[in-house]
Amino acid sequence: MRRVVQFSTGNVGRHSLHAIIGRPDLELVGVHAASPDKIGRDAAELCGRSEPTGIIATDDIEALVALAPDCVVYTAQGETRPMAAIEQIATFLRAGINVASTSMVWLVAPRLADDWLRVPLEQACKQGNSSLYANGVDPGYSGDTEVFSALSLVTRAESITVQEIFDYANYDDFEFTGTTMGFGLGPDDETPPLFLPGVLTNLWSGPIRNLAGLLGIELDEVRQRIEPWYATDTIECIMTTVEPGQMGAIRFAVEGVRDGTPVITMEHITRLTAAAAPDWEYPPDNHTGVHRVVVEGEPRVEINTHVSHPRLDTTDAGCISTAARVVNAIDWICAAPSGLLSIEDVPPAALIRGLMW
Ligand SMILES: NC(=O)c1ccc[n+]([C@@H]2O[C@H](COP(=O)([O-])OP(=O)(O)OC[C@H]3O[C@@H](n4cnc5c(N)ncnc54)[C@H](OP(=O)(O)O)[C@@H]3O)[C@@H](O)[C@H]2O)c1
Repeated sequence: MRRVVQFSTGNVGRHSLHAIIGRPDLELVGVHAASPDKIGRDAAELCGRSEPTGIIATDDIEALVALAPDCVVYTAQGETRPMAAIEQIATFLRAGINVASTSMVWLVAPRLADDWLRVPLEQACKQGNSSLYANGVDPGYSGDTEVFSALSLVTRAESITVQEIFDYANYDDFEFTGTTMGFGLGPDDETPPLFLPGVLTNLWSGPIRNLAGLLGIELDEVRQRIEPWYATDTIECIMTTVEPGQMGAIRFAVEGVRDGTPVITMEHITRLTAAAAPDWEYPPDNHTGVHRVVVEGEPRVEINTHVSHPRLDTTDAGCISTAARVVNAIDWICAAPSGLLSIEDVPPAALIRGLMW
């Protein structure tokens, strides 16, 4: 039985909390909430469960450390407050507590992460003899596990394309996702944060270079391309309202290039409602989204992954899967050697233990 603290109860965190409470091989011993209206409430209430757990949400990190859990599942918003998130994660690591994180997406390829991020976390792991593992769906599954599965079916690979094709219309996060991607902006408005020089490559060059390293190939460069689509009619959706002339879809990619040709591409096609960018690719079979890998090689392999849920929206289903990527690794992380861990360190079969009971 692993003793676990859930850190944050947002889009991803409430699903990891729900999963931890439900699993017989995990024991929830603490829960962190930053929002004043959540502090003092039972963990069950914060993730939609009816039976109280007796575990009360707190923002007292020292009290959570004092519980001496085996692992903290860290799903707090990290990219907008990186230094604070590093310090919170490092506090647990220094105290000998392992951390499984969906936050700080650069850590999906931890050994290629920049020094400002990697060094303090490596030091904290060393000091506490603990380990840190980060993963998710994208970045994460789509660029690692899904790619490894596709590559296991070929005798030679010429190129790898990873795509997220998604309709974000029902994604209720204009404040962060919407403004970061620039939905609703016109061609003459300020460049949105995601498309400022170097930001995309900063986010995806780690997974691309990591994959190139695992394949044993050298890349000449990692470059980015961005293409906005401006609405011709008004688009009304949960994310926001887009007027004609404003951005209603975006296609962007980061490409690992060898001999002038992209050999590893990670591309996103993100639209608000199916009416946006009608000439761009759609997910197959009327799905609202797909995480796809195409390997051109001997033979060609295409894997399309769709997650869905009988009651919840696809974005929420994606958040459950994001949570699964780290919750399923808890037992393995707790037994792993100290340091920054990456998906290629994990035997795939270790991640399915405990999923059926
Ligand atoms: N790789 C992937 O596939 C993937 C997918 C989804 C998300 N992610 C990453 O996972 C993380 C969580 O995503 P999300 O959508 O769940 O984020 P979110 O809902 O926007 O925020 C998560 C939580 O962060 C906590 N938080 C906010 N400010 C804080 C502060 N100052 N101190 C401590 N906690 C604070 C809040 O917790 P409380 O509400 O409990 O107060 C909030 O609910 C992000 O870093 C995101 O990039 C990765």
